[in-house]
This record gives sequence, C-alpha cells and structure tokens, in this order.
Amino acid sequence: SPAPLVDQFQRRISYLRLSVTDRCDLRCTYCMPERMTFLPRKDVLSLEELHDLALGFIERGITKIRLTGGEPLVRRDMMELVRALGRKVGDGLDELTLTTNGTQLSEFADGLYEAGVRRINVSLDTLDRARFQQLSRRDSLPQVLEGLAAAKAAGLKVKLNTVALKGLNEDEIPDLIAWAHGQGFEATLIEVMPLGEVEEDRFDHYLPLMAVRDELEQRWTLTPSDHRSGGPARYFDVAETGGRLGLITPLTNNFCEGCNRIRVTATGQLYACLGGVEQVDLRAALRSDDPHTALTEGLDLAMRIKPARHSFAIDARGQAPALPRHMSMTGG
Ligand code: GTP
Ligand code: 5AD
Ligand code: SF4
Repeated sequence: SPAPLVDQFQRRISYLRLSVTDRCDLRCTYCMPERMTFLPRKDVLSLEELHDLALGFIERGITKIRLTGGEPLVRRDMMELVRALGRKVGDGLDELTLTTNGTQLSEFADGLYEAGVRRINVSLDTLDRARFQQLSRRDSLPQVLEGLAAAKAAGLKVKLNTVALKGLNEDEIPDLIAWAHGQGFEATLIEVMPLGEVEEDRFDHYLPLMAVRDELEQRWTLTPSDHRSGGPARYFDVAETGGRLGLITPLTNNFCEGCNRIRVTATGQLYACLGGVEQVDLRAALRSDDPHTALTEGLDLAMRIKPARHSFAIDARGQAPALPRHMSMTGG
C-alpha cells in the first residue's frame, strides 16, 4: 500500500485541515479587514476535486480530516462534501469534523450528525451581544447561540474556541469557560497569531495564555490532563466546573515537535506548516494528465519541506504581520 506521510523530522502526518472556502459571513477584527479581498471563485477547487484530494490523502494514511474555511458552512455544496467524506468514517477515516463560527449550525447540525460528524469546534469569543458585534463586525450572537443549541440537540460534541484578547474579552474568560462547561461543551483558549494584515495592531490585544492560566488558578483547580484531541491544545480538568479546558499557545509555548498536521487551501495549495510560506500546488496536480502520480509527488515534496517549527512571533507594536496571508486562507 502507498507510503504513509512522514516528514524529515520523523513526524507522522495523519491530520488534514482542508479549507473549502476563504469566505466568511463574519469579519472578526483579528482575522480579517472589513473589506477583505476573497479568492476568485474560478480558482477554488470544485466539489469533485476536493473529494478526490481527500481520498488521495486518506490513501496516504490521513485518518482525521477537519473541514475549515473561512467559514465552511457558507459554501453551497459543503454538505455534499460532508456526506461523501462521511462515508469514509470507519473506512480509512477515524474522524471527520469541522471548525465553524456557528452562524449556520441551526440549519446544518442534524445533517452533520447524520453524515457521520460527531464533534465540532465552534469559535466564540464573547457571550455579550454588543461585544460580539464589536469583535466580529456582525450582530450574529443570537444565531450562534441558536446554532450551539441545535448542535447539542443533534448529539454533536462541541468544543468552543476563544481567542484570548487583552482589553477585549479578557475580563470575560472565566465566565465563558464556566458557561461552556455548564452547557457540556469543552472550552479552548487560543493566543492571537500575526497572520495577514488587519485594521488593528494585534500586539495591543496579545494575551499570553500562561498569564491567563495563572489568573484562572486563583479561582479554580486546574489539573493537567493527558487527554489529546489530535490538535495542538494541551488540556486541563477544571475541578470546580467539572469541564475540560484546552490551551493553544503557539506564541508562548511552541508545540511543533509533535505536529501531525498539514493544511490545504480552497485553491488546493498545500502548506506544510501554518507558519510556512512554501506551498505545493495540488490543484495543478489534480488537473494534470496523471493526477495520481502528480499527487503522490506533491505529497512527497510536502514531507521534505515541512519545517521543524513555525517562526512567527508577536514582539512589538507596529510590526508587520509575520505572514502575509490571513488565517482564513488556511483555516487556522
Ligand atoms: P482538535 O481536533 O479539537 O484538536 O482541533 P484543533 O485545535 O486541531 O482545530 P481548531 O480548528 O479548533 O484550531 C484551533 C486553533 O488552533 C486555531 O486557531 C488554529 O489556527 C490553531 N492551530 C491548529 N493547528 C495549528 C498548528 O499546527 N499551528 C499553529 N500555530 N496553530 C494551529
Ligand atoms: N490568531 C489566532 N486565532 C485566529 N483565528 C482566526 N484568526 C486568528 C488569529 N490571527 C481563530 C478563529 C477560530 C480559529 C479557527 O482560528 O477565531 O476560532
Ligand atoms: Fe470568519 Fe473565523 Fe475569521 Fe471570524 S475568525 S472572520 S468567523 S474565518
């Protein structure tokens, strides 16, 4: 059978993050500018291409696929892809999942469960409606809360992703975690990363999670957990809430040694690292005369160029983003 994906540092790559669109119905201020330039639709992979690509990855030992965006549920044929890939769960795939902002979940939660999705990650930075509107430039908190309720009712396990932002939602972090745990959701905090130009200086809002952890330990008992979700989060059990808290600390505590991931953009560009600039054009491979061979070569190349670690940092006010592309290109 075809060779599994192992990089030059002997890391086994089993997790594909596949962006199905760079578009989004929100405009989170740390993620993108209000007037974001999106990819021309003709450059985006078709449903068939996404499906073929995913099958090619599964053949090479990818066992977990996370569909991302932008916002994956704004793509019109997204559920067709979910249903097609859902058939691979238990037959090559261990997990098919997605990361979503939750605005469309009330419509899609049941369908996701029926297709074989069991767990989703939902981005939520605040429970305050005015603040949500300030942070995402859209008044969509009520829809997101409805979406979360629908996900729960559908039987999906939910993990909330909260970007910890100094001066913006810092004061609300314990309430958000307690609320999530009360709903039966996991909670994960993320450090803001310097990806793509936005209208604000991320340095002003960068909050190292070690400080947040110290703060939380003033009120709660956090016990490191050996639970792993397959992503970069490190987990703690919170005795007082009975829930699980994840911390994703790309800036203060690099987790790259154990990296098991690669990502592909909606135009089929493979990035071997979220923090890398080198890309492999898998769309060209898919559209070549011998797609299977071209894809094999593309993935082999990706394994040779995957860097040991990302090298981005948030060091100073006024510095340019470490990487020109936005998080919405690679889906995080
Ligand atoms: P689980 O499957 O639940 O572990 O999810 P995940 O953490 O892998 O995925 P999710 O889409 O919820 O990502 C949460 C955050 O982690 C996002 O902000 C991602 O950008 C970030 N993230 C995921 N993988 C990497 C990575 O390899 N490097 C860096 N720097 N950040 C990552
Ligand atoms: N830094 C950190 N997290 C980000 N996200 C989007 N942009 C950034 C950034 N610059 C988060 C979203 C979502 C996840 C996929 O990535 O809030 O939770
Ligand atoms: Fe959309 Fe997610 Fe970016 Fe917010 S962070 S604008 S929800 S892609």
